[in-house]
Amino acid sequence: MSKHHQTVFVTSATGITGSALCRILVAPPFNYTVRSTTRDRSTPIAQSLTALGVQFIGDGTISWSSAHEETLLEATKPCTKLFLCLLPNLSDLSEAPRQASLMIRLAKQAGITQVVGMTSLGVFMLETPTTDQSRFPPSGLFKAHLQAQSKIEDIITTGGFESWTILRPGFLMANFLEPKLSSLHGGLREIRDDKTWTTCLEPHSKLGLTDHVDIARLAASAFFAPGKFHGRELAVVSDVLTVQEVLDVLGEKIGLGPGGLEPVYIADECASGKETGQGRESSSAVKGGGFFAKERCLRNMLHGVDLEAKSTIAGPLVSFGGFLEREEQVVNETYTHF
Ligand SMILES: NC(=O)c1ccc[n+]([C@@H]2O[C@H](COP(=O)([O-])OP(=O)(O)OC[C@H]3O[C@@H](n4cnc5c(N)ncnc54)[C@H](OP(=O)(O)O)[C@@H]3O)[C@@H](O)[C@H]2O)c1
Repeated sequence: MSKHHQTVFVTSATGITGSALCRILVAPPFNYTVRSTTRDRSTPIAQSLTALGVQFIGDGTISWSSAHEETLLEATKPCTKLFLCLLPNLSDLSEAPRQASLMIRLAKQAGITQVVGMTSLGVFMLETPTTDQSRFPPSGLFKAHLQAQSKIEDIITTGGFESWTILRPGFLMANFLEPKLSSLHGGLREIRDDKTWTTCLEPHSKLGLTDHVDIARLAASAFFAPGKFHGRELAVVSDVLTVQEVLDVLGEKIGLGPGGLEPVYIADECASGKETGQGRESSSAVKGGGFFAKERCLRNMLHGVDLEAKSTIAGPLVSFGGFLEREEQVVNETYTHF
């Protein structure tokens, strides 16, 4: 085994970020062994990763639950590194921290020495409370979600590993494409269906956008150089755009041109952040971005965020236009009826 040969357990390997990470890790210059579990081996993504050499352990019904502890331990045992990316369950926000505790306990038991965790840029907002009246703190369901993400970070950072790194991405560029466009609680579908984006952001608000491949590249860099990345909570922001700029870039790509997609600013309906995401289905405010659609705090999502990740990753971060270019096939599949 070469000095750098490693075996990595990747959670969410069949997810958008995890699959990008798997592809990077199994290829040169890494040539790492990658292990994971999935709840369905028959999906095209599980099959294509298997063909690349990713090892899915268990019978293909394995979730991050104590019911599958034995298989999860078997899967993690040969590993030296763990990528921890857990999907929040909005009906039970305590679930992901529970899953994190399980996976971290098993990782420790297996002798894993390094963990790279993926949480959310929003955790910075919890850490830097503001007295500035023009900025709003996270509220409602969004705040509870961020608190759960912060708890996951604590579970990782206090886990006693030789090296840990937390990656905090902003708004995923992949949210504008299927399968996320429809699954992000339906909110962003209006961009395709109505050619509008209803938002609590303001015209001058800057949105921090993240390419999932940039997260994967950063995670891979951290696995390669644990010393350099140990003890860091890095904001991963690939591009910074206003809502209008996002829509112009997307509109251009799908043949509508600038102005073809229109923002709908709903500052008045966002007056009470307390109502955030609490199932107000009839309100236009539930459009435009899922459970945080009414979150005024996102207007200042980049406040106090140090974008130092840029200097730690090889090559430039991906612009939103570059992302759409690279994902052209998915863009076409998502916006077929234009
Ligand atoms: N969307 C955003 O704008 C945004 C912004 C910041 C941070 N994030 C963070 O991004 C993460 C999600 O990453 P992603 O979008 O790359 O993931 P994703 O594409 O949604 O993939 C979800 C993955 O989770 C696995 N999974 C879900 N529930 C599971 C369970 N109970 N047991 C085992 N596996 C389970 C699925 O595996 P199988 O189906 O194969 O079992 C799949 O691989 C979350 O932590 C979220 O907080 C998202």
